[in-house]
Amino acid sequence: MRTSEIAKRFLDYFEQHDHLVVPSASLISPNPTTLFTIAGMVPFIPYLMGEQTPPKHRMASNQKCVRTLDIDEVGKTTRHGTFFQMLGNFSFGDYFKEEAIHYAYELLTTPQDKGGYGFDPEKLWMTTFTDDEEARSMWKNEGVDPEHIQIMGMEDNFWTTGGPGPGGPCSEIYVDRGPKYGVEGGPIADENRYIEIWDLVFENYEVDNVKSKTDLHIVGELENKNIDTGAGLERLAYLMQGKQNIYETDEVFPVIEAAQKLSGRTYGDDEAMDVRFRIVADHVRSALMIMSDGVRPSNNGRGYVLRRLLRRTVKAMRELGVTEPVMPTLLPTSKAAMEPSYPELNDTFHDVSEAAYGEEDAFRRTLESGTEIFDMAVTKAKQGGSDLVSGEDAFKLHDTYGFPIEITLEMAADQGVKVDEAKFRELMAEQKSRARADALKKRHNVDLSVYDDFKKTLLQPIDFLGYTDMSARAKVLGIMQEGKGSVPAVTGPANIEVILDRTPFYGNSGGQVGDIGMIESANERIPVVATEKENGLIIHIVTQLPENPEATFMAVVDPEKRQAAANNHTATHLMHEALRKV
Ligand code: ALA
Repeated sequence: MRTSEIAKRFLDYFEQHDHLVVPSASLISPNPTTLFTIAGMVPFIPYLMGEQTPPKHRMASNQKCVRTLDIDEVGKTTRHGTFFQMLGNFSFGDYFKEEAIHYAYELLTTPQDKGGYGFDPEKLWMTTFTDDEEARSMWKNEGVDPEHIQIMGMEDNFWTTGGPGPGGPCSEIYVDRGPKYGVEGGPIADENRYIEIWDLVFENYEVDNVKSKTDLHIVGELENKNIDTGAGLERLAYLMQGKQNIYETDEVFPVIEAAQKLSGRTYGDDEAMDVRFRIVADHVRSALMIMSDGVRPSNNGRGYVLRRLLRRTVKAMRELGVTEPVMPTLLPTSKAAMEPSYPELNDTFHDVSEAAYGEEDAFRRTLESGTEIFDMAVTKAKQGGSDLVSGEDAFKLHDTYGFPIEITLEMAADQGVKVDEAKFRELMAEQKSRARADALKKRHNVDLSVYDDFKKTLLQPIDFLGYTDMSARAKVLGIMQEGKGSVPAVTGPANIEVILDRTPFYGNSGGQVGDIGMIESANERIPVVATEKENGLIIHIVTQLPENPEATFMAVVDPEKRQAAANNHTATHLMHEALRKV
């Protein structure tokens, strides 16, 4: 059964059981504590927490998700994907455990010709949370063999997002792949033979202070008893398609096929090479989906995750022997495989592919210039009678030329020399602590949730007037300091942040630098030393607290500085274009 059909059956089933089916939300998480949407429930957190009223108390979705915590496992196991789709049914204070268990079991075991998934009940195993006798007996009532219901603890069967919010005990459903894949004894004995396919979370707690899976604080019970479930679409697909892993399913395998053609190698011949094929297949798809939701490669946050995915793809393809550009072949292949489920990929593909190809080109240039520097380092070492590339040189390659250490090591091995890795790591550690110290000084490292909370209190968006006006009357809406709290917490005098209801000040957000100028009332003049844009808020950075924040102010941009910034901004674009040409 094709992946898209598996998803359709899930959504149809829950629609028939009175759920409102909604389209996937963006991969860009609305929740400021995570970069990406990591689970089907993320878009529904306000409903689960009782903060907003859902359009319906039963909902279902097929949500695009990205998790990169296990990026190093990708390709090595059967089931780790950075991008995946989570099928979920949700109840916000409507049905609870019994129905959730019944629905899941019915859909899984109903024969395929009757619209279900047709899993053999003998092959299904369940786990329940330590003392959740209720869930155990509900599974038994469905007809599940008591031997197939195992108990797991906090580590496995208590779900949270990893941050503050809703959470609760869960019950997981596993499929036994058979004795070929591991030992008998259910999921507690072997999670490679027994594959988790669906997690039913009885989400009726609020948690905070989540330090680990077992170290968290339960704030209390939520007003509603909620259900949040997540079935891994790729896992269902590989099991139902009789494949060995998620990378061989219909939506992913075409990229492996394309990579085989590019490399002239055959998938399945050599385990080490197969891992690379699988990394490529996973990462190309993730990059496509992330970029289609608007992310572009950069050096921080989501953009950095994306950059890593693209670079790891290029690197894995090199290891498969391909040194020419790969994205122009792999990306359209992935798009064609995903398009039946996501027709909207077409709308942005032109921009997405341009950006992806540009990133690959830039990385290839990095690799080329790095290779020259590397060769010089080897020559230097050899002239000194050593077969060791110094840690300083390896660090410089990494730090100045963006040359990944893995590639340095690999090239060293090719040339029969070693790298002083210990020294390299030492220099890396030093640089990290320098970077940390720097970050503390910069306001970019602040906890963005404060801005997010502030934004929620606004009745209307901030009015930006700077395209037409260089001065405007304004009221102070809020005062913060480096993202920490509001007026009472401000100790001054450094980096006081003033938010106005309307402003001609252009906020720095990655392109042209922000404006400077003056905020003045009848009685005081407050210099604005910088303007930043954060979460849609325009933040005026000043060094003195307004004495009377209630007053009406004139916000006046420094016109000379603005003109100079605009000129420089344009010149930078021209320069980049010229550099690209040469
Ligand atoms: N939120 C649960 C999970 O992601 C269903 O596993």
